[in-house]
Amino acid sequence: MNGFIYQYPVKQYFGNGCAEEAIKTELKKVGNNVLLAYGGGSLKRTGLYDKLRTWLEELDKNVTDFGGIMPNPTYAKVQEGAKLVRENNIDFILAVGGGSVIDCCKIVSAQAMLDKDIWDMWYDEHRLPTKFIPMGAVVTASGTGAEQNNGAVITHEEKKLKQPLFGAFHSFAVLDSDLTKTVPMKQVISGAFDTLSHCMETYMGKPQATNLSDEINEAVMRNVISNLRCLIQNPDDDFARGELMWASAMAENGMLKLGKQTDFQCHMIEHAVGAYTDCNHGQGLAVIHPALYRRLLDAGTEKLARMAETVWGVKGATSKKTAMQGIEALEAFIREIGLPTRWCEMGITDERLLRAAADTCFITPGCCRQLTRDEIFELLLECM
Ligand code: NZQ
Ligand code: ZN
Repeated sequence: MNGFIYQYPVKQYFGNGCAEEAIKTELKKVGNNVLLAYGGGSLKRTGLYDKLRTWLEELDKNVTDFGGIMPNPTYAKVQEGAKLVRENNIDFILAVGGGSVIDCCKIVSAQAMLDKDIWDMWYDEHRLPTKFIPMGAVVTASGTGAEQNNGAVITHEEKKLKQPLFGAFHSFAVLDSDLTKTVPMKQVISGAFDTLSHCMETYMGKPQATNLSDEINEAVMRNVISNLRCLIQNPDDDFARGELMWASAMAENGMLKLGKQTDFQCHMIEHAVGAYTDCNHGQGLAVIHPALYRRLLDAGTEKLARMAETVWGVKGATSKKTAMQGIEALEAFIREIGLPTRWCEMGITDERLLRAAADTCFITPGCCRQLTRDEIFELLLECM
């Protein structure tokens, strides 16, 4: 393993029905002016909005709403949130939603404390923010693990870029899987595949030699696959739902990344496609992953073969055949759970958008072989 320093700041509340206790305990400790951040409408439909309002009123909080945070949150929405924070002297941001709401709030919390434009500060000056409005996250759709880290993926619509920005860690994360029961199964599947993708992208990073982080990772991957199968069979399987929620957190709380330089090339390509098409994140990953791994077959044979054996339970006559069977098993799983394997299934038919994505995506140093932009375009075309 590579050397590392590990410190982890996020307090975790995990378990069915834990949200009320978590909110009441944690919000007691913060200032009076609270920004309640949420997405497009599910929070009100599910009744959680009214419950949160009641709990916050019991604590005498002044609540400012910041609703309408869209999937693939935009930079303009970040600026809207930062303005609300400043205008209302917000002391604490409570993000309630999936990865999009949680990511947006991480950057709102930093932008609100800055005179500068946070996008330019990072991409032009490579400087990170240092002051933040404190935050907590209540996860209502699991999969991204966004509540576990300080990275956020933001779409800058004018620049046609969907890229990472860095904010603060949430001081606590509420992982109450009861709150995810209303998430449409399509999104549950997409979220769980995102978790599996985070695991694979970490596993395929450097070093390739098997280490403790990777062995724990293998267990998380098996867990996601089996629990997603259980949940699709029986959406009332609360145990499987909870396991998926914790697996999502495990993939992004840093544990699996200790001693590793992660890969995340699939993510970088998906984000670039997302910037041009606003596509669903988990679905985009499902389309790209098998095609990317076929390209990395030679450079990553041994690691792909080990994943094939330990995660998918397949073995061929040679390492390369085993690796190939693993990629086929991954592709079969994607079909089995009903995720797309082609862009056309997602309504993406314009080659020019894929060329633009290939030309703008970030090429990661952690990938076992760095691809050229033309290769990335070719692999995107293979998936038309
Ligand atoms: O907007 P509302 O009405 O709330 O509906 C949302 C949204 O349409 C719905 N939803 C959420 N909770 C629900 C619910 N519907 C019913 N009941 C509930 N309890 O789910 C839909 C998708 O939500 P979204 O937050 O967009 O999904 P997800 O959690 O997959 O987040 C995706 C975003 O996270 C980024 C992605 O790029 C994308 O922008 N990622 C963030 C990461 C991170 N910070 O670590 C890592 C990931 O790799 C990813 O890139
Ligand atoms: Zn992801």
